[in-house]
Amino acid sequence: MTITVENLTKKYSSGQEEVVAVDDVSFEATQGELFTLLGPSGCGKTTTLRCLAGLEQINGGTISIGGETVATPKQSTKPEHRDIGLVFQSYALWPHMTARENILYALKARDWPKNDRENRIEEVLELVGLPEIGGRYPSELSGGQQQRISFARAVSYEPSVLLMDEPLSNLDFKQRRRMRRLLLEMLQEVGITTVYVTHDQEEAFEISDETLVLNTGQKAQQGTPQELYKNPTSPFVADFLGEANLFDATARDVDAAAGVAQCEVRSGGTTIEMECSFQDESVLKDPIVVIRPEDVRPGAYTDGATVADERNRWDGTVSHQFYRGSFTQNIIDVGEIRFKCKTDKPVLDEGQDVSIVVEPSDAKLVHDEV
Ligand SMILES: Nc1ncnc2c1ncn2[C@@H]1O[C@H](COP(=O)(O)OP(=O)(O)O)[C@@H](O)[C@H]1O
Ligand SMILES: [Mg+2]
Repeated sequence: MTITVENLTKKYSSGQEEVVAVDDVSFEATQGELFTLLGPSGCGKTTTLRCLAGLEQINGGTISIGGETVATPKQSTKPEHRDIGLVFQSYALWPHMTARENILYALKARDWPKNDRENRIEEVLELVGLPEIGGRYPSELSGGQQQRISFARAVSYEPSVLLMDEPLSNLDFKQRRRMRRLLLEMLQEVGITTVYVTHDQEEAFEISDETLVLNTGQKAQQGTPQELYKNPTSPFVADFLGEANLFDATARDVDAAAGVAQCEVRSGGTTIEMECSFQDESVLKDPIVVIRPEDVRPGAYTDGATVADERNRWDGTVSHQFYRGSFTQNIIDVGEIRFKCKTDKPVLDEGQDVSIVVEPSDAKLVHDEV
């Protein structure tokens, strides 16, 4: 089923102060879609999910599931009547119940037909690949196994919508990667509309059909992982999703039809000329230029560069290098402008003079806000 959120606002009052945890946020997760809410700690992800689940009274907007309104500031459908499954970071399994009993408890609460409960428990244990451990207590299971039981419980009564709040963040790095894959397979098998909360950009990119980035309770940007990475519309999104070179720019000579502008780019006391691209003319007032480190190419790589390339070529010096295993991050200083430049091999040396090239289409102008 489709979940539609329109102008959702949720405020908390703590003491004298009022916190707007979710501020006028709208989105739609369509049937079968894996929709991610992504953003740093405190940006309102959990609050949004709790509103969807019916665990919070909302202050503004509406929430509908499958075309039926389940929440307005005046009216709220109880959580158990919302046809949703919930998976929390903490697993939230009953410690005094075995894995099987935990699932049975959920089936009973949702009035699953009595004579099919045992059968259904076996089915979902099979789904999560743990048919053998139904008799164990949560304390006898690893974190990853507990999370799989928690998932099995959430989908056991076949809800129309699944809500997951940072389900993998209590696992260690290796387990998290493995579980991410498994989770994706299980979700594909169940084919259920899912709203998935994470602060982990890599996780969001790997699993999402569509991602909404939140910043201090507000919608920063929404798109597919590719769209968000390739075309961030703000410094916040550019910086939160991967690494970015961000410099103040002034547009001088604008070719609106081609979507390119000759700019002055400044940092510290240095100003350079740069040909940049833009999608929307509205960014041209006080823009920031965003360049991904992998799009800053050292001259040694660029034999045969096109004429357009040559326009954005500057001489610099490698001031620092950080070895990161699968790639190397080079800091290249062009006067006081510091470029992060990613190379897949350590082809440069610290202290080396090098010229760098940036294609105009890789130097993107964005608004200096949100
Ligand atoms: N029960 C609460 N009472 C007061 N403030 C809260 C409460 N829950 C969350 N907040 C505040 O709302 C904001 C969003 O929190 P949360 O939704 O938990 O963020 P996230 O899940 O993205 O880390 C934060 O500023 C947080 O401190
Ligand atoms: Mg949270």
